[in-house]
Amino acid sequence: MNLSFRVLALLLTVWVDAQKTSFTLRPPISGALTRAEVISRLRSFRPPAAPQRRLSSFPSVSKRFREDWQLDVDDLIEQVKVAPGRQGEAVVTWLTKDRHLPSALQYAAAGSLFRRRADGQVNVYTMQICLPNSEVMLDPLLGPPNIAFDFNQLSALINSSSFLPKDSDSWRYLPPEGDPWDFLARTNYCIDYKNPKAYYTSPYIHSVTLTNLRGGTDYNFQPEGSSRRFSFRTPPDVGVPGPYKLGVWADVGVTNVSFAVMTKMLQLDPDLLLTVGDLSYADGWAERWDIFGVMMEPLMSSRYHLAVPGNHELIQNNGIDLIHRYPMPFRESGSGSPFMFAHESGPVFVIGMAGSYSETDTGSAQWVFVEEKLRQVNRARTPWVIVMFHTPWYNSNNAHYLEGIKHQWDMEEMLYNHGVDVVFNGHVHSYERSHPVFNFSKDECGITHIVVGDAGNYEGPATYEGRPPGWKFPQPAWSAFREASYGPGMLTVLNATHAEWRWHRVACVYENKDHHPVNLSKFTYDGSRQSLGRTRPITAYIWDGASGPSEGPPCTTESDNSDQKFEASDMVMLVR
Ligand SMILES: [Fe+2]
Repeated sequence: MNLSFRVLALLLTVWVDAQKTSFTLRPPISGALTRAEVISRLRSFRPPAAPQRRLSSFPSVSKRFREDWQLDVDDLIEQVKVAPGRQGEAVVTWLTKDRHLPSALQYAAAGSLFRRRADGQVNVYTMQICLPNSEVMLDPLLGPPNIAFDFNQLSALINSSSFLPKDSDSWRYLPPEGDPWDFLARTNYCIDYKNPKAYYTSPYIHSVTLTNLRGGTDYNFQPEGSSRRFSFRTPPDVGVPGPYKLGVWADVGVTNVSFAVMTKMLQLDPDLLLTVGDLSYADGWAERWDIFGVMMEPLMSSRYHLAVPGNHELIQNNGIDLIHRYPMPFRESGSGSPFMFAHESGPVFVIGMAGSYSETDTGSAQWVFVEEKLRQVNRARTPWVIVMFHTPWYNSNNAHYLEGIKHQWDMEEMLYNHGVDVVFNGHVHSYERSHPVFNFSKDECGITHIVVGDAGNYEGPATYEGRPPGWKFPQPAWSAFREASYGPGMLTVLNATHAEWRWHRVACVYENKDHHPVNLSKFTYDGSRQSLGRTRPITAYIWDGASGPSEGPPCTTESDNSDQKFEASDMVMLVR
């Protein structure tokens, strides 16, 4: 009896303590406040004065955005984007540095007085900081506004002697003149796992699902606690024949060229945006994901966006950033992998897959998923079938030549047998379109393969890679058009049988042989949001800011040895 009483008393004490704990941990905006009070409190919220930079944390990403791009200082919402969910659903995602902002938004069809509210969830991810090598981090080709990589910041993270006792097994001394890359090389280019500062923690990633949306309709939305309003248009309902515009690009990055290509894409105004791998070129320095998110917000918050991973998503961090920051409708489409999904809208059925960055053998998860989806296609509803993956099968540049051959051996016949119409790829930093092709031979029933790895990332054009560098000669019979300059592509599905494909050149670049500093004043990354002067201004390839578009001066990217190198666009009518 006595014992039972003691156990009961103990349980009661634990329960009371638990209540106290949960009470003290409760965020200040919840509790008994009404919704109006919460919102008014959030609107009047002012971020505290910036603390002195502590070694234990990266500088505030949000603060840097506001200073560098003169964002609305009262607003804490950034990197807004929209992806499709299930049929009739959109998933809106945005980032904040502050935990106390709600994962909720209000939305309404344009012109409708009926506002709806949707609640969502918040995610944070953590990963060990792993980098490629000093060259990539310190000398980003194509230049600003690629975020400056802070050498001292990396050194401070590595030098655990400044914050740990000497007898700790995690203690490491990096002298002021020491090279952090020597240290990283010893631990496989990751900051030593024993160092508590080896781990990056993301901002808060909020995601909210909007439901019961109609096709081809404009919707406005506003995240709660934000003064910013956004709008996007849903793609047409499945089965609506067209016209339907798909914007396609890959290997994007965060340079002035990326920005120019993004601006052109925004002007082309696609109904659906496809990014075929290699988005931010963060390469393990996750702040570059934030730069990318801010730069692409105008485009990615105003239409549905689908993305497959590229090597730059997978190499340093196994795609962790992509999975969390750009969630794709993979469960909604019956896939077990965040890197593979299917999406239907209007007259198109789109399949995204990891391609060479996942097992491709017959019977592998990827093979089975793609085959299952292709069998489900109803051509009466979606006559056009589009597949996207990063590393191409049809590429006549020495850079990455036949890199995807295993994937091709395993899956080309299956795609061909199911009558896939178009395959989109990236990876090679150039543009190339094939004739309808199968097994490297032109084939009327074959698939048109299009490489659009030329959206502007810092690595420069595919004219210097490969052995020897440049395009293979003669141009293979299956290759219809190839060029090493930069620009986006657009597939306009006109009806069940005809679709127009067009590639628009935006920038020709040239080698900075004498390593002259770039004249930064020529570049205007959105004028008000430019980050001039933040990057080492000497880059290996540069753009003059004018050459590229058909209305600009005639140009070609230096060292481009293709026959079509002077063409400012490529256009073809695809007939199925
Ligand atoms: Fe790539």
